[in-house]
Amino acid sequence: MPDSSPALLAAAAPDLARDGGPTAGSRGRVVGFVLDDASSDALRTGLDGIERKLDIKRGGVRQATRFMQSETDIRAVIVDIADCADPIAGLEALARVCPPDVRVAVIGEATDIAFYRLLVTTMGVTEYLPKPVTRDAVQSVLRPHLVGQEPGPSAIRQGHVIAICGAQGGAGATTITVNLALQLADATRGSVAILDLNLQNGETGVMLGVQPGTGLRNALEDPERADALLLDRVAISVGPRVRLIAADEAIDADLRITEAGVSHLLGLLRQKFNSIVVDMPMPVPPAIRPVVAAARHVFVLLEPEVTGLRNARALRAMVTEIAGVNRVFTVLNRADGRGGLTRALVEKALGAPVDFVIPDLGRKMVEAVNLGQPALHSVPMLRRALAGMVREVSGIAADPPRSLLGKLLRS
Ligand SMILES: Nc1ncnc2c1ncn2[C@@H]1O[C@H](COP(=O)(O)OP(=O)(O)OP(=O)(O)O)[C@@H](O)[C@H]1O
Ligand SMILES: [Mg+2]
Repeated sequence: MPDSSPALLAAAAPDLARDGGPTAGSRGRVVGFVLDDASSDALRTGLDGIERKLDIKRGGVRQATRFMQSETDIRAVIVDIADCADPIAGLEALARVCPPDVRVAVIGEATDIAFYRLLVTTMGVTEYLPKPVTRDAVQSVLRPHLVGQEPGPSAIRQGHVIAICGAQGGAGATTITVNLALQLADATRGSVAILDLNLQNGETGVMLGVQPGTGLRNALEDPERADALLLDRVAISVGPRVRLIAADEAIDADLRITEAGVSHLLGLLRQKFNSIVVDMPMPVPPAIRPVVAAARHVFVLLEPEVTGLRNARALRAMVTEIAGVNRVFTVLNRADGRGGLTRALVEKALGAPVDFVIPDLGRKMVEAVNLGQPALHSVPMLRRALAGMVREVSGIAADPPRSLLGKLLRS
């Protein structure tokens, strides 16, 4: 059995021991779910006096996961996996409901270094403490992470960017952005941001029946204007765990969006949200390239008409050039529209397969827009049509779960 002393743990993850500068101003409680009195006492005493409120409860991964589904303003979760038959699956479920900026520390019986590495390097767990958990281990290994001594959240836990592009006007980009985001939050129980980069003519607010907040334009023009507090002001709650970040700028406004502003804002969002679904402006302005570069999924929407084909091909080439790999998924919307091209013809013209098909869903779709209510609630067929895309993005299978390791936690 390898030595599992705190010193060895720190040596195994030297980057975690480095000072990362203070995180002054960050908020939130520290919550622990532990299964035995000794661990509970060690945590209580070892973390005594930290600035944040400490709350140690009796329980394990399941209780922690349920708790995180309804709680916000949590800075860190410490969870005991000792009663878990499949700790990796349990922690994956927990990760799904924890925003990326919530630290997750784990306590368990396993003492081998391979398990430690799996959690910390592959899954983005902040720290792992084997039992028996001592006060000394808590103070020397865990406590530094909770008092602002640790580096920023690991890159592997950054939020997942999903870009939605319409290859032609009216192809359904905004519809898919809004409803995919809502359905993703439902399916994953994670936090989701809708980012509408159509600052002058965005329609996400209309579809959700809300007025956009203020400040997005400033943040995109000048990276120094964007901080986590601004996000709180701009991001409007539009559903359980879903926030909208949009603008309503005058049609004649002289926008000066910068690549630095876009990158900075995206970085902030990727720390706060598990997924960020972006309604992309078309054509894609050069300043918005960081979104394309960060996106793991780019959905290109088109209708079965000749008009969108050229743009769809150009978009695929652009994304592949920026990302280095083909991250484009083609979505044929209103696939059965009267007089439209057949799927086979569209695929032939694109030189690529259609990945997802959405049928014409009738006038209820327009009615939903006019009522300012997401169509997902009134058109059950839309939910079914989006299920494949949700599965692709989240890695959550409808059939027996396969290992989600890496899919969920890597960017
Ligand atoms: N599969 C569908 N069946 C029926 N109606 C649909 C479908 N998809 C979208 N619509 C409707 O088509 C209209 C245009 O959709 P949407 O605004 O999402 O397109 P867009 O690509 O964002 O357009 P724009 O180019 O103006 O940004 C909306 O009224 C929407 O409800
Ligand atoms: Mg739109």
